[in-house]
Formats: sequence, structure tokens, C-alpha cells
Amino acid sequence: MTIEYINGKFLTPGEAAVPVEERGHQFGDGVYEVIRFYGGTGFMLKEHLDRLERSAEEIKIQLKDGIGAIQKIIEEGVERSGMKDCYVYLQVTRGAAPRNHLFPLDTEPSIAMTVKPAVPLPQEKVNEGVSVITHPDERWANCYIKSLNLLPNILAKQTAYEQGCYEAVLHKDGRVTEASSSNIFIVKGDTVITTPLSREILPGITRMAVKDVCDIGAIRLEERHFTVDELKQADEVFVTSTTSEVLPVTKIDEKPVKGGSPGNLTKLIRELFCARTAES
Ligand code: PDD
Repeated sequence: MTIEYINGKFLTPGEAAVPVEERGHQFGDGVYEVIRFYGGTGFMLKEHLDRLERSAEEIKIQLKDGIGAIQKIIEEGVERSGMKDCYVYLQVTRGAAPRNHLFPLDTEPSIAMTVKPAVPLPQEKVNEGVSVITHPDERWANCYIKSLNLLPNILAKQTAYEQGCYEAVLHKDGRVTEASSSNIFIVKGDTVITTPLSREILPGITRMAVKDVCDIGAIRLEERHFTVDELKQADEVFVTSTTSEVLPVTKIDEKPVKGGSPGNLTKLIRELFCARTAES
């Protein structure tokens, strides 16, 4: 059963409401996380909680009861949902206060959460790969913070969708950063390449898991910048995220990537990743 939670209350779906003066609503003044539970266990839950804590800190939101209290809310929500395979979407905002750009003095952060059934990736997407477009990265300078402000991301993703594509790969003057809601990897020869961590990209938890499986599987991985041209000439391309897991990309701006079907290293990394989620 889908669960909704807001500020201490678990509610039936549709019941939870945010006040009009909620700063998440007024300013996008908050941060969020998306966590996947597999077989009742939160995949890399600690890493997600660490990132949430860092994101909140970066925008000067103080988690009064600490990150441990949020972990308890998540675990209780999943327990109440009765679901073993689900997504947890959690938002922490600066709370509700009369609209003013300045931080309110006595307002407590607001915590909202939904627990929803996980939707497995369509097998066709996994087997055949997805199409993407390339799109200018029009976001702010601090994309390492998982901020609620996602306007450039949703506009880019919508543009991709309207062109029959799954994702928009973002670039700054031809240098690839990441995708609208996922990290990006290319394969050249025997080497997997992904953009290095910086303020320009979200430090994806799935990205971290892929680094680990490459390490364990003795797959060469380089963290370096690459261009849209390199992306288009790569032997293999894939995107990673909590909801997309490891997903092959087989078409970019209407042109097939190499042979036009998912590459062997991508398939191997996906297998190793899925084995990890199964044992989590
Ligand atoms: N998106 N980059 C961006 C811009 C993202 O929004 C996401 C995740 C990622 C991948 O991060 P992770 O592996 O930790 O999920 C990279 C989530 C799923 C979302 O907003 O729905």
C-alpha cells in the first residue's frame, strides 16, 4: 500500500497536504532523496542518508533530531506499506513561514515522504537500450546538492520525452556533465569512463555502486571529462540512477551507439549491479 507521511503523521494516500506557505512549495527551499528498497532492505541506505545529511547541511537546514530520526521514519514507512520492493521519496524543507526570502527564525524543517511500489524497468528497455538526446546543461552551479529545484532537469527530460527519448544527456559547451535524472558512463575499448565528481554533478549512489562493482570485477574505470563527440563515438553508453539502475543507451540524437545494441561491458556491469541489489 502506498504510504504518505508529513511531519510526524502517517496518512492514507491523498490525505497529506502541505501548507501554502511551505518554503519547499514557495521557493523549492529544500533537499530530497530517492531510495530503492529491494526485498525489504534499503539499497545503500546509509549512503543515501549521508548524502541527505550533506545536502541539508549545504543549504543550512538543521536536522533537529538528526539523520537517525529520518532513518526511523523511512523504516517505519516501509514497514507500514507492507511492501518489500518500493521507492521512498523523502523531502526535507526549511518549513512553512510567511513568504520572505530570508530564513525564518523559529520555523522547524518539514519532512515529507511517500513510499510507493517499485516499478521494474521494462525488459525491453534493458534488452534493447534507450534513446537519449543531448541538451545544454542549464542548471545552477551547485548540482552536487540534491536540491528540490529541478526546473532545468524536468524541462530537459520533457524535451527528451517529446522526441521519443528516455533521457537528456546534459553538456556545458560540449563537455558532458550528467543526465537530467541520472549519471552517465561511456565505454571506450576496455575502459569505462564517467564524469569526475565536482559541484557540477550529483554524486549518484548508483554511480558509487558501479564504481565498486568495476573494482571487484577488475573492470578499468576512469573518472574524467568527455565531450559530446566522444559520447557519440563511444563503444557503449549507459546511465545510472536509483530508478533506472544500470540502463544501456543505444541511440543518441537519433544515431545508434556503435552496433545499436547494449554492449558487453554494460551488460556485465548491470549483472554485477543486480547481483548486489539482490543480496542487499
Ligand atoms: N535522480 N543525477 C541526477 C541529476 C539525478 O537526479 C539522479 C537521481 C542521479 C542518480 O543518483 P542516484 O544513483 O543516487 O539515484 C544523478 C533520482 C532518481 C530522481 O530524482 O528521481
